[in-house]
Amino acid sequence: MKTNKKNTHTISLVKTEISFPCSTTQTVLNSMAALTRYIWYSFWVSWCGCGVCVVEVLSGKFSGLPMSRKHISGKDEANGRVLACRISPQSDLSLKVVGKLQKSVYKFNVGDKEIF
Ligand code: FES
Repeated sequence: MKTNKKNTHTISLVKTEISFPCSTTQTVLNSMAALTRYIWYSFWVSWCGCGVCVVEVLSGKFSGLPMSRKHISGKDEANGRVLACRISPQSDLSLKVVGKLQKSVYKFNVGDKEIF
Protein backbone atom coordinates (compact mmCIF):
# COMPACT_ATOMS: atom_id res chain seq x y z
CA MET A 1 0.00 0.00 0.00
CA LYS A 2 1.42 3.35 -1.07
CA THR A 3 0.10 6.34 0.81
CA ASN A 4 -0.45 9.47 -1.26
CA LYS A 5 -1.30 12.02 1.40
CA LYS A 6 1.43 14.56 1.89
CA ASN A 7 3.40 13.93 5.07
CA THR A 8 1.75 10.56 5.57
CA HIS A 9 3.59 7.30 5.07
CA THR A 10 2.70 3.63 5.08
CA ILE A 11 3.85 1.43 7.93
CA SER A 12 4.02 -2.28 7.09
CA LEU A 13 4.44 -5.00 9.68
CA VAL A 14 6.47 -7.91 8.33
CA LYS A 15 5.06 -11.43 8.65
CA THR A 16 1.57 -9.92 8.61
CA GLU A 17 -0.77 -8.36 6.11
CA ILE A 18 -1.00 -5.33 8.34
CA SER A 19 -0.19 -1.90 6.99
CA PHE A 20 -1.49 1.45 8.07
CA PRO A 21 -0.93 5.16 7.44
CA CYS A 22 1.09 7.29 9.82
CA SER A 23 1.77 10.99 9.52
CA THR A 24 5.15 12.52 10.17
CA THR A 25 3.68 14.24 13.23
CA GLN A 26 2.39 11.04 14.87
CA THR A 27 4.26 8.27 16.55
CA VAL A 28 4.09 4.87 14.93
CA LEU A 29 2.50 3.44 18.07
CA ASN A 30 -0.25 6.06 18.07
CA SER A 31 -1.12 5.17 14.50
CA MET A 32 -1.21 1.49 15.33
CA ALA A 33 -3.43 2.12 18.31
CA ALA A 34 -5.82 4.30 16.35
CA LEU A 35 -6.65 1.29 14.18
CA THR A 36 -7.68 -1.10 16.88
CA ARG A 37 -10.18 -1.25 19.68
CA TYR A 38 -8.54 -4.06 21.56
CA ILE A 39 -4.81 -3.93 21.79
CA TRP A 40 -2.37 -1.28 22.93
CA TYR A 41 -5.29 0.57 24.47
CA SER A 42 -3.65 1.25 27.78
CA PHE A 43 -0.48 2.82 26.44
CA TRP A 44 -1.42 4.39 23.16
CA VAL A 45 -1.22 8.05 24.05
CA SER A 46 2.48 8.58 24.57
CA TRP A 47 5.73 7.19 25.80
CA CYS A 48 5.31 5.35 29.05
CA GLY A 49 8.74 3.79 29.43
CA CYS A 50 7.36 0.25 29.68
CA GLY A 51 9.34 -1.14 26.75
CA VAL A 52 6.38 -3.06 25.35
CA CYS A 53 6.47 -1.38 21.95
CA VAL A 54 9.92 -2.45 20.74
CA VAL A 55 10.17 -2.81 16.96
CA GLU A 56 12.95 -3.28 14.45
CA VAL A 57 12.95 -0.90 11.52
CA LEU A 58 13.90 -3.07 8.54
CA SER A 59 13.63 -0.31 5.96
CA GLY A 60 12.73 3.33 5.74
CA LYS A 61 13.62 6.56 7.49
CA PHE A 62 12.24 7.88 10.74
CA SER A 63 12.80 10.61 13.26
CA GLY A 64 12.94 9.71 16.89
CA LEU A 65 12.92 11.08 20.37
CA PRO A 66 15.44 9.79 22.92
CA MET A 67 14.96 6.11 23.75
CA SER A 68 14.74 4.61 27.21
CA ARG A 69 18.16 3.02 27.74
CA LYS A 70 16.47 0.58 30.08
CA HIS A 71 14.89 -1.02 27.00
CA ILE A 72 16.97 0.13 24.01
CA SER A 73 20.75 0.19 24.17
CA GLY A 74 22.79 2.46 21.95
CA LYS A 75 23.82 -0.61 19.93
CA ASP A 76 20.17 -1.68 19.57
CA GLU A 77 19.22 1.77 18.36
CA ALA A 78 22.09 1.86 15.88
CA ASN A 79 20.78 -1.45 14.49
CA GLY A 80 17.24 -0.11 14.06
CA ARG A 81 15.67 -1.48 17.24
CA VAL A 82 13.55 1.31 18.70
CA LEU A 83 10.42 2.08 20.70
CA ALA A 84 7.45 2.59 18.38
CA CYS A 85 6.09 5.21 20.75
CA ARG A 86 9.21 7.33 20.18
CA ILE A 87 9.48 7.36 16.40
CA SER A 88 7.66 9.07 13.54
CA PRO A 89 8.05 8.07 9.89
CA GLN A 90 9.97 10.16 7.38
CA SER A 91 9.29 7.60 4.64
CA ASP A 92 7.35 4.35 4.32
CA LEU A 93 8.59 1.93 6.98
CA SER A 94 8.83 -1.82 7.19
CA LEU A 95 8.80 -2.97 10.80
CA LYS A 96 9.21 -6.20 12.68
CA VAL A 97 7.43 -6.22 16.03
CA VAL A 98 9.77 -7.74 18.58
CA GLY A 99 8.48 -6.49 21.92
CA LYS A 100 5.60 -7.82 23.96
CA LEU A 101 3.24 -6.47 21.32
CA GLN A 102 4.40 -9.31 19.11
CA LYS A 103 1.88 -11.76 20.57
CA SER A 104 -1.00 -9.37 20.01
CA VAL A 105 0.01 -8.46 16.48
CA TYR A 106 0.45 -12.00 15.27
CA LYS A 107 -2.50 -13.41 17.21
CA PHE A 108 -4.95 -10.83 15.89
CA ASN A 109 -3.63 -11.00 12.36
CA VAL A 110 -4.72 -14.62 12.07
CA GLY A 111 -8.39 -14.84 11.25
CA ASP A 112 -9.47 -11.59 12.87
CA LYS A 113 -8.74 -8.92 10.31
CA GLU A 114 -11.58 -6.67 11.40
CA ILE A 115 -9.36 -5.40 14.18
CA PHE A 116 -7.08 -3.72 11.69
S1 FES B 1 4.47 2.10 24.92
FE1 FES B 1 5.62 1.94 26.74
S2 FES B 1 7.66 2.39 26.10
FE2 FES B 1 6.51 2.52 24.27
